Amino acid sequence: MQPLDPATLNTLTDYEDYSVTSHSYDTTRRPIGVEVILGCFAATNTPPLQEQVILDAGCGTGNYLQAIHDKVGICHGIEINDGMLAQAQSKLGNGSSVHFDHGSLLELPYPDEFFDGIMCNQVIHHLDDPMPTEDFPNVKTMLSACYRVLRPHGVLILNMCSRHQLLDGFWWADLIPRVVEQMAARIPSLELTGKMLEAVDFQLGGLIVPLHEVLQGPSYFDPRGPLKKSFRDGDSTWALLSEQELQTTLEQIRTLNENGDITQYLDEREKRRKRVGQTTFIFARK
Ligand SMILES: C[S@@+](CC[C@H](N)C(=O)[O-])C[C@H]1O[C@@H](n2cnc3c(N)ncnc32)[C@H](O)[C@@H]1O
Repeated sequence: MQPLDPATLNTLTDYEDYSVTSHSYDTTRRPIGVEVILGCFAATNTPPLQEQVILDAGCGTGNYLQAIHDKVGICHGIEINDGMLAQAQSKLGNGSSVHFDHGSLLELPYPDEFFDGIMCNQVIHHLDDPMPTEDFPNVKTMLSACYRVLRPHGVLILNMCSRHQLLDGFWWADLIPRVVEQMAARIPSLELTGKMLEAVDFQLGGLIVPLHEVLQGPSYFDPRGPLKKSFRDGDSTWALLSEQELQTTLEQIRTLNENGDITQYLDEREKRRKRVGQTTFIFARK
């Protein structure tokens, strides 16, 4: 594989420092919706799931690959951050059925029609800074790259948060409204995502929302969780806060805990989360 052009590496938006985050990422992150992903890949059935060649685009520490690698044929993970990639490699090795590449989703270094399926979990919000003139140029580039490397009828699955889910699916959203809006602006709406998929000739399959799982696993329900840096590192929305905003928010969380109001606050937020979930899986076929 060709070494990456530094200009390409710079397209990664850098508000979250994944070289640091990689060390604690797995303490607060779970691969949710694995059965959704496997179901979408299996629906093709030619070849059968256990023979399919799958790409995890932006594989991070390899949580999703770890969950699916023994159920599919051959897996490839591509990741731009060295620290995240090192964690993935240490978990899964770089053997005959799981391969890792350091690279960018904007220039997928694979031959045309190489994959039966591609999953892209929680990466889209890193691809573009909000642009006044053009909508999500890097997401468009990434979708075109995915189209090229998928075989005909191959499946692309995008796992992303809708604006509604950012607002209602995470209990701390009311406490950090400015950066939740800022994060929402980084993510195309579900409608626009569908249009962008169709513009590169994908056929839309549908949307699935797993309501019973949370991205942070059991740690999500820790009422003091955000007081810990390792917890905040598991959700890049926290990285958008200024130091002053962070300190004010942490003080609010300490007060909610100390005066006992946190239980009612979390119960109310949990009702909202259960209605919308945290993330949406959009699947499409070449
Ligand atoms: C929130 S993490 C998700 C990781 C993994 N997919 C998961 O769900 O656990 C986002 C990941 O996308 C990676 N990433 C961001 N932009 C990328 C790009 N242009 N090419 C490849 N990886 C990228 C980041 O380095 C980070 O590891």
